[in-house]
Amino acid sequence: MNLKKPVIIIDGFAGPGLFEDQSRGSPLIICNAVKDALSKNLRARQKLRVVCIEKDKEIFAKLESNLKHFEFASAKHGSFIDFADKIALVAKTHSLFLYVDPFTVRGLVWEELDRIYSSLDSGSSVEVLLNLNSQSFIREALSVLKTDLSGMDDETSGDEQVIGDTQIATLNSIAGGTWWKELILEGLDFPSTITEFSRRYCERMKRRFAEVVFHPIKAKPHHTVAKYDLVFGTRHVDGLKLMNDEMVKSRRELADMALPKEPTLFEVRSEELVPDVHRLPQIILDITVIPSTRKEVMAAVVKSHFCEFHQTEIRRCIATLLATNQLKSDSSSSRINDETKIWTTKSL
Ligand SMILES: C[S@@+](CC[C@H](N)C(=O)[O-])C[C@H]1O[C@@H](n2cnc3c(N)ncnc32)[C@H](O)[C@@H]1O
Repeated sequence: MNLKKPVIIIDGFAGPGLFEDQSRGSPLIICNAVKDALSKNLRARQKLRVVCIEKDKEIFAKLESNLKHFEFASAKHGSFIDFADKIALVAKTHSLFLYVDPFTVRGLVWEELDRIYSSLDSGSSVEVLLNLNSQSFIREALSVLKTDLSGMDDETSGDEQVIGDTQIATLNSIAGGTWWKELILEGLDFPSTITEFSRRYCERMKRRFAEVVFHPIKAKPHHTVAKYDLVFGTRHVDGLKLMNDEMVKSRRELADMALPKEPTLFEVRSEELVPDVHRLPQIILDITVIPSTRKEVMAAVVKSHFCEFHQTEIRRCIATLLATNQLKSDSSSSRINDETKIWTTKSL
């Protein structure tokens, strides 16, 4: 770990850290990961801090107690929004990783978040991972605009995150404008409206971050709409690649857990859980119609298929395509590096 600036990780909606069933919540997951990292690099000790914010008094008491063994971590009592100014300030001197996981979209106030994101202008490094409950937003928006709800996905109705009485002003404050109304009026089907909301939300974040991607998290493989979308914003494509690989790893762990007890002839797990790696060669061939460096191709695959393929898989697939003459390179040897240009030999 080579840290130029001190790093601060902020869990903005922390929860207790440890749930009743003894499973770890995000504060403890983060703190244990930091502890591991520090055990490998003691010099980073002065440069890493974790701050967890929790509004509920009782939950805060649990959080404080659960964090007391981590000397680099502190618990703060209060609303995330009350800390927005301090976070914006700290982002000017620290590399900031912000995790935002409210129960409902109501916790996401665009302007408050954007105040923090705007610290990017000072040259700071800010990365954000947020749970965007687009389903809850769109349900609310549909009901506020009294749009026909027929054709809605019944499996997910009754979700505790549905909010009953949100007013248009609240929806505007979450979305950072009135643009969501146009989306509702486009009359797309329910799943497409949700996906489109997340996509346009990410587009807006691109005013502050070079790279913004989202990944749908579904409660059950057969659901047609995501329970929520994980949105990740970073200034650097390298941050995107790192997050991609980490998310692929945890998706694989989930896929392993979902393995059927008895062996089956065909893959029975969903495509989201087990993306079909056989699609990868064509994805790469489509991208390399324009000659590009391997680094650019890897970035393009990660951006267009976030959380589907690990970089090792992409690199290996490029090597196979070169070996089978489906790709050409400007390298004189068979070994290539990130700067080597590659292109497909197949015409469009
Ligand atoms: C979804 S839970 C967080 C779970 C946690 N990220 C985890 O994975 O263990 C949201 C938490 O945020 C707290 N909360 C709700 N509104 C808040 C706010 N405005 N500021 C800070 N915390 C808030 C809730 O009390 C709840 O404990």
